[in-house]
Amino acid sequence: MNALEQMNTARALVAGDKGLLAMDESDPTCNQRFAMLGIPQTEEARRAYRELIVTTPNLSECISGAILYDETIRQQKKDGTPFVKAITDAGIIVGIKVDYGAKDMAGHPGEKITEGLDGLRERLIEYAKMGARFAKWRAVFSVGNGVPSRGCIEANAQTLARYAALCQETGLVPIVEPEVLMDGSHSLQRCCEVTVEVLHTVFNELYTQQVTLEGMILKPNMALPGLSCSLQVGVDEVADATVRCLLRSVPAAIAGIAFLSGGQSAELASARLNAMNAAFEMRLPWALSFSFARAIQQPALEIWRGEEANVSAAQKALYHRARCNRFARLGEYKSTMETS
Ligand code: 13P
Repeated sequence: MNALEQMNTARALVAGDKGLLAMDESDPTCNQRFAMLGIPQTEEARRAYRELIVTTPNLSECISGAILYDETIRQQKKDGTPFVKAITDAGIIVGIKVDYGAKDMAGHPGEKITEGLDGLRERLIEYAKMGARFAKWRAVFSVGNGVPSRGCIEANAQTLARYAALCQETGLVPIVEPEVLMDGSHSLQRCCEVTVEVLHTVFNELYTQQVTLEGMILKPNMALPGLSCSLQVGVDEVADATVRCLLRSVPAAIAGIAFLSGGQSAELASARLNAMNAAFEMRLPWALSFSFARAIQQPALEIWRGEEANVSAAQKALYHRARCNRFARLGEYKSTMETS
């Protein structure tokens, strides 16, 4: 894929009213979510669950791209059709998570550094041959006493930028995901300060590593008070704060922004994305889209519970969430859609 094709792919991923479906949970994360619902933690159960997702009728009305995990990109439907073919035939672009996860960072108690750069060029080439056209790498930042530190922010920002440069060399569109976590008692204001500092550092490193901004997508957190903060805020306040943070720190040149959900309830994630698009869309240089995992999948997973008989109802729930987020992109989502 040349640079122009890459920019076209990046633009297609955030075009119109569609968004991304993250279905790239690593085996341990997927197993953890299965365990909470009593679903067997086996390769076959993970495969069956991913088949449920990729065969959801009409998903491509709302979803432009799906992010897979190494195990999933190699799997097939029960009838032998590779997932990559099923997804591509449905008109959805295939992506792949390529980091090896966030590990304890030496010298920085309570902080994480994402690993996976060694051998990344070869893995990206392999994934591109398998049909992937974009990739994802996630860095995480805890908020607390003295954290995140400059050491953690700079190391993760440089790692994200080196990953993004390697993606573009291989022809894959990088999704750059620096996530400021919701855990903790910090205020909305503190989340904003950390988010702006992280984004400034990330874009500085992207510039230093010569990443083409037009050929990448940013996957940020929304600006939110910590989950245990005593002062929680309304949907409009979240929308205002998030847009303010992004306007202050994200170059206009990037192809688009697609939020992670980060553990927000599915309905709140839709309502907050909707509020941003309803109030600000005309004033923003980039599309504000979604790249949710839990906020699209969780209701469906809770219905499926590993039972074949529940597949169709789970697919309806998955489609419903995708559709709600499609309307949120347009600023036309309403809470009444949840019951109708
Ligand atoms: P959540 O939407 O569940 O936060 O997941 C998004 C994601 O892809 C994390 O890397």
